[in-house]
Amino acid sequence: LKRLAPAAGATALTAFAGITTLNDDWDDYIPSSPATDPNAEPEKIVILGSGWAALSALRKCAAPNKSIVVVSPRPHFLYTPLLASSSVGTITLRSACEPLRALVESAASKATSATFVRADAREVDVKGKKVLATTDSDGMALELSYDKLVIAVGAQPNTFGIPGVQEHALFLKEAEDSAKLHAKLLCNLEKAAALNIRVAEIDRLLKVVVCGGGPTGVELAAELADFAHNDVARRYGTDISERIQIILVEAMPRILAPFDEKLANVAKEHLVSKGVDVRTGTAVTYVESNDVTLAPSCPRNATKEQREAAAAAAKTEETGALVWAAGIGARPLVKKLANSLGQTDMRGLQVDETLKVKGTDSVYAIGDAALSGYAPTAQVASQQGKHIGRAIRDGIDSKFEYIHAGSLCCLGSDNGIAQLLAPKGSNSFNVWDALGAEQVGKDGDERAVTGKPAFVMWRSLYWTKLLSTSSRLSLGGDWIKAQLHGRDVVEPV
Ligand code: FAD
Ligand code: NAI
Repeated sequence: LKRLAPAAGATALTAFAGITTLNDDWDDYIPSSPATDPNAEPEKIVILGSGWAALSALRKCAAPNKSIVVVSPRPHFLYTPLLASSSVGTITLRSACEPLRALVESAASKATSATFVRADAREVDVKGKKVLATTDSDGMALELSYDKLVIAVGAQPNTFGIPGVQEHALFLKEAEDSAKLHAKLLCNLEKAAALNIRVAEIDRLLKVVVCGGGPTGVELAAELADFAHNDVARRYGTDISERIQIILVEAMPRILAPFDEKLANVAKEHLVSKGVDVRTGTAVTYVESNDVTLAPSCPRNATKEQREAAAAAAKTEETGALVWAAGIGARPLVKKLANSLGQTDMRGLQVDETLKVKGTDSVYAIGDAALSGYAPTAQVASQQGKHIGRAIRDGIDSKFEYIHAGSLCCLGSDNGIAQLLAPKGSNSFNVWDALGAEQVGKDGDERAVTGKPAFVMWRSLYWTKLLSTSSRLSLGGDWIKAQLHGRDVVEPV
């Protein structure tokens, strides 16, 4: 892409979705005090998590005289942007998961030591500078002492306490969620294709409700529509594929809140053209087994009459699968610590401008676990990880400055939307003109790219930003295979 569009400069096109920080140069550190004193005791760094924020921090803080322990129940790094496509078999999960031990080994070669402990952190003792954890395999209790602690445990799906969601919905947050969803879709297709089954039951099995019109829900709905049109039609016949119903439910008046409204409308029109039933201003209010209740959304300060009218207008859909993509909330560890520190906002850990947790002197919170005033994205998480990694390496806390490069959303095969910061330069806008990029954003300093160019950008960026050659080969292979032979329709055993 850099070659295709030199005039646009490196800033926008290499950084357009902003996940610019993970596979960059490992060697750009200058060991400094106190790390350089060979007689000093190594500083004990504990990093909780193995996601975007944690890995960036690990890579930057790996320096002499640092003894690093990474604690996470997940022994791999998950490349979340690929989750929607793995859940319909466009790609395999192998391409999206990077074994953690290899990454920790690389860090170990630059530090006094770096180790991975597969465990769930349960509690932080801020006064005693200890983390209490439980091992994943045998539930053994561990106590890890630290000089500096980095909390990068991410977040978890938020059910907002809506009855039945936790028990009956599927999610799209972790690799196993994607595997479960893929298996459920294929199992429902097989059941629907079986002989002697009632038409109403076929329709139920083939109905998927996606709750949440944020980027996760939209990317998933687009992948599901492609899957239905191409692969289901090819493998199960049009009798089945044409009966598939995908309903995308969004409580707010429009989908894709992080994007400019014009781009959100482009995405909506594209989904509708693919047969997705997009219902904005509609909320999931109750779930029971296969039944999902949908009602017109009510504002928070709705009157009793408004609430009663919404309840009266509620309808129940019998579904084959409900996918919950309605946003995220804090993990128990984060809530517990926030509470013990007297913080009042339980959505995450409140941090100061250096990303230090308020009320502590050596605990940092980054990524989705932190309430830092930025959106919960990989782009923010990796930049914060890098910032804290450097601060620990150099022993200097400094103000975190976020650089937003733009946002991308994949809308399935050959389609997407991108909202990118246009670099300021004499002829840089020519490239945007060539791409048909409209001016968007509050100050008109962003450019909108849609359709195939946005799709190509999405694929190029996410492919380049994978962490290893092995994953790049695997993902490239998956895409070629899907193009030539269709998506994977083998039910996992
Ligand atoms: P995570 O990446 O979630 O990592 C958290 C880590 O902590 C995990 O390893 C977890 O196992 C570990 N952990 C959990 N509990 C504990 C515990 N008790 N003790 C120790 N470890 C623990 N953002 C973008 O910018 N662009 C995208 O295209 C994009 N696509 C996305 C697609 C999907 C489907 C989803 C769900 C999210 C997407 N995001 C995207 C958002 C992005 O993935 C998150 O903002 C990002 O993962 C946050 O990074 P993190 O390191 O804070 O958390
Ligand atoms: P989100 O919070 O962005 O969107 C969730 C949506 O669900 C909201 O629009 C909300 O109004 C809606 N919702 C909540 N409860 C509901 C209910 N009961 N009924 C109907 N609708 C309901 O969550 P999402 O999409 O998972 O994204 C999380 C973060 O990850 C965001 O910061 C997002 O930008 C980022 N992300 C970025 C991607 C990209 O850049 N391509 C892809 C996926 C996620």
